[in-house]
Amino acid sequence: MPDHNQNKLHFDYAGWESLNIFVYLTDVLQESSYHIYVKGSAKKIKLWDVIRQIVPASEVAERFKDRIPPITGPAGTLFIENAEGFHCRHKGSERRVILNMLFTSHRNLLSHGRSSHKTLERRDRVFEEI
Ligand SMILES: [Fe+2]
Repeated sequence: MPDHNQNKLHFDYAGWESLNIFVYLTDVLQESSYHIYVKGSAKKIKLWDVIRQIVPASEVAERFKDRIPPITGPAGTLFIENAEGFHCRHKGSERRVILNMLFTSHRNLLSHGRSSHKTLERRDRVFEEI
């Protein structure tokens, strides 16, 4: 698959208050496309991060050092994330299937949720390619 923005460290702004609940539906191992979340980063987003949204991995590693664990686990592993912190999907050799439930208080001009019309069209194009 081509590189996708989801493979790059970024953050999302879903609304004033939002919460993501993830459940791995397949076993997610070190070689899988596991999720990465940078602990504590939601409170350390800078104005420049807001403008560019995607931040180089080397810069995130420098800023957050050892707070970037891969999230792996057997099917059924559940974790909760504030998507306003840096996160991404590792580009592994094994796929993962994940259930993502998103709560958001409302949508606004800065929202770029997966449910936006533009995002769904792009997703459908990628799925057609593969
Ligand atoms: Fe995201």
